[in-house]
Amino acid sequence: MDIRFVTAASGEVVAVMATEGGELLGAGKALDTAASGRIAKAMKAAHFKGGAGQVVDVLAPDGVDFARVLVIGVGKAEAADGMAVERWAGHAVKRVLTSGSEKLVLQPDALPSVAIAEAGAHAALGARLAAYRFDTYRTKLKPEQKPTLQAVEVVLEAIAAAKARAEVDAAIVEGVFFARDLVSEPPNVLYPESFAERLRDLETIGVEVEILEPAAMEKLGMGALLGVAQGSSRPARLVSMKWNGSSSKKAKPIALVGKGVTFDTGGISLKPGAGMDEMKGDMGGAAAVAGAMKAIALRKAKANVVGVVALVENMPGANAQRPGDIVNTMSGQTIEVLNTDAEGRLILADAVWYAQDKFEPTALIDLATLTGAVIVALGHENAGMFSNDEDLVHAITSAGQAEGEPVWRLPLSAAYDKLIDTPNADMKNIAGKPVAGSIVGAQFIKRFVKDGTPWAHLDIAGTAWKSGPYDDPISPSWATGYGVRLLNRLIANKYED
Ligand code: BES
Ligand code: MN
Ligand code: ZN
Repeated sequence: MDIRFVTAASGEVVAVMATEGGELLGAGKALDTAASGRIAKAMKAAHFKGGAGQVVDVLAPDGVDFARVLVIGVGKAEAADGMAVERWAGHAVKRVLTSGSEKLVLQPDALPSVAIAEAGAHAALGARLAAYRFDTYRTKLKPEQKPTLQAVEVVLEAIAAAKARAEVDAAIVEGVFFARDLVSEPPNVLYPESFAERLRDLETIGVEVEILEPAAMEKLGMGALLGVAQGSSRPARLVSMKWNGSSSKKAKPIALVGKGVTFDTGGISLKPGAGMDEMKGDMGGAAAVAGAMKAIALRKAKANVVGVVALVENMPGANAQRPGDIVNTMSGQTIEVLNTDAEGRLILADAVWYAQDKFEPTALIDLATLTGAVIVALGHENAGMFSNDEDLVHAITSAGQAEGEPVWRLPLSAAYDKLIDTPNADMKNIAGKPVAGSIVGAQFIKRFVKDGTPWAHLDIAGTAWKSGPYDDPISPSWATGYGVRLLNRLIANKYED
């Protein structure tokens, strides 16, 4: 889909803003005047209140060239932020995407806390994100199910600033779509080797990609990662992606580490059958890291960043690890595997250690669809955040807030850490009782974080994908791409030259 910034509005379909109370903003008011008040009349007849996402679809108003005017609410004017503008544009795209129309005109207005250039850029970003589809395997779509929308024109008086921002945002869109595609792909298509090959493609945009195979991991002592992989006929991969954009090429990078379980059956601690298909998304952390690497490389971020993803399939094959197995890790610590379904922390134990050992990062953030418990605690609205560093906490919180990918901090402490002590090894991979599941997972990962490394763990089990209906207009599919925007913003705010 084409995005264009233009100074004059013309076409078949236009979207304008209204705020709570049902007030049209500037662009809508002008149209209403031209239409002799018929748009306001339609809004009144529809009992339109201007709530976020509320739409009045006005057809064939007299006196204006547009054949269709979409009046879309942004909610309370004072509370409306950039995300509200994105969702406003997203609602418009949602209405028009398969309607038969080929062009949509967006007429954003400035809001109390969003300047007009910003509003224009957010409108373009929202429109792009809303147009996402994963139709790869839908071979029999009827014409009316297929997108017809080919171009979105954003109308602004001065287009230069919005255009410049939108060019950078295009990189973010590519990153988010990359992550969504990876999460959406079926597990027979996307498995550790094929995932690694897709990451290899990032070389074409200047990312250095290194792929470790099992023999190399064996040599490094990654017994926890390989223990998970051994139940599958698909061999594991550990992929490092390096972007060296800082002017000081030798500066230590920030490390992003992702859980990439391409399918999680639970292993011998087998999951129940209902809904197990969703475990194709258990590589959402790795997808977020890959998407973020793509975004920062495409926009040529002036930062040194390394992404490390651990890719395995957790299967109950004949050679699968058993509950009770004790494995060695690259760190030298041993783990008693009491539940083979707590596999994410096992692969992260080695991946997190490897990232620190090899890259000596200034900070490390891991993302993982780690626990069902985080969904119980926070639903699908916030990722769970755990950290040993207050600065990182604040930076991640505000990046998530700004990008519509919020996080909520949960605690860590010595008392929780004790729950994974065992007489049989250095630690066990589950607590003895079903308490504080997400915290226990985080405490486990923390044992593989070296003293002095600022670290945060984001449990994205509730946010990497969602069940339908997909009513967030800028996230119109099962896979959200959660994490890409947050990481990109974090790097832009805190780690660039
Ligand atoms: N991949 C799952 C966590 C998950 C659950 C992600 C639901 C998304 C939706 C993870 O590997 C897992 O199985 N965790 C267990 C841990 C338990 C055995 C301590 C869980 O959450 O039940
Ligand atoms: Mn599991
Ligand atoms: Zn898992």
